Amino acid sequence: MKILVSGSSGFIGFHLIKELLNAGHEVVGFDNHNDYYNPDLKLKRLTLLSSKKFTFYELDLNNILINDQDFDLAINLAAQAGVRVPAEKDYLYETTNIEGFNSFCNFCAKRNIKKIIYASSSSVYSDINEGKFDEVNTPLKPKSKYGKSKIANELHASELAKLDDLSMVGLRFFSVYGPFGRPDMAYYAFAQAIKNKHTVTLNNEGNMYRDMTYIDDIIQGVLGAINYAANPKNIYKNEIFNLGNDAPIKTKYMLNTIEKYLGKKAIIQQCKTNNENLKTHANITKAKNLLGYEPRVSFDEGIERFLDWYKYYENI
Ligand SMILES: NC(=O)c1ccc[n+]([C@@H]2O[C@H](COP(=O)([O-])OP(=O)(O)OC[C@H]3O[C@@H](n4cnc5c(N)ncnc54)[C@H](O)[C@@H]3O)[C@@H](O)[C@H]2O)c1
Repeated sequence: MKILVSGSSGFIGFHLIKELLNAGHEVVGFDNHNDYYNPDLKLKRLTLLSSKKFTFYELDLNNILINDQDFDLAINLAAQAGVRVPAEKDYLYETTNIEGFNSFCNFCAKRNIKKIIYASSSSVYSDINEGKFDEVNTPLKPKSKYGKSKIANELHASELAKLDDLSMVGLRFFSVYGPFGRPDMAYYAFAQAIKNKHTVTLNNEGNMYRDMTYIDDIIQGVLGAINYAANPKNIYKNEIFNLGNDAPIKTKYMLNTIEKYLGKKAIIQQCKTNNENLKTHANITKAKNLLGYEPRVSFDEGIERFLDWYKYYENI
């Protein structure tokens, strides 16, 4: 297949394209290489994607100047990710996540791309008293502007799928982690702070739970979504799936595991936050049934793989 991927130098984009190229697909990717986190990491990922079957453009989601034609499928991963963007930059949730996704869909319409997969997030949910987040029965009351922007994407996708003969698939990713991961996420930030003897900001005394999902499992889920979207039975649909691990981890446990591995104690500063969920926990039955999704990597195994990479990357 010939596949268009936005956010191609991002964490998930990089791992996905590596897999797509291995499987023999042709990929056109683009990314604006912004400085939300160190762009050197984005450049490093891009360098590792070098292949005759991969074409890269440095450009913005709101201005997609690409002449390539005949795409079979498009995947939107470009976004202002994370819930903790400073107030002076939180307009990006509107301009990148909402307007940018609309621009991506307009580009797909111009190129007659009928199958679109897009990144949503566990942040569309808010805390529930018990049980797991379920695509159908859990109410969507996001605590953050980020979560709201992802709901806007899902609603837009539903409208488009109804109007046109499109096959849309929204993937609600749950705390994805692994090698070449995102430095703004807790597991990576904890490792950095411990290594540099900086203070670790620990929200809500480390008593939050995250359904940490290893990158290789997520990529298997996206590949399942590609097959799902490619099935002609699934036109006129905007189908949404949780991709999580169904095994939440306490953030205090995450921090202790990283301390043990690096052989150093963290300097902790306690902090309270109210725009994040206390617990995320994915019900993944739908993804198992319809995408063949089956997460295999436990947190202990996955965090060790991340830390092995981190030590190598940081020359520790
Ligand atoms: N990693 C996770 O845990 C997680 C969880 C839930 C949802 N998601 C979603 O998955 C997608 C990929 O996340 P990621 O972890 O790879 O994040 P990432 O920040 O590493 O990747 C996003 C990429 O998009 C690019 N980008 C941002 N704005 C752009 C713009 N206006 N034009 C072009 N490129 C732009 C960035 O430079 C970056 O390389 C995002 O939509 C994110 O919201 C990720």
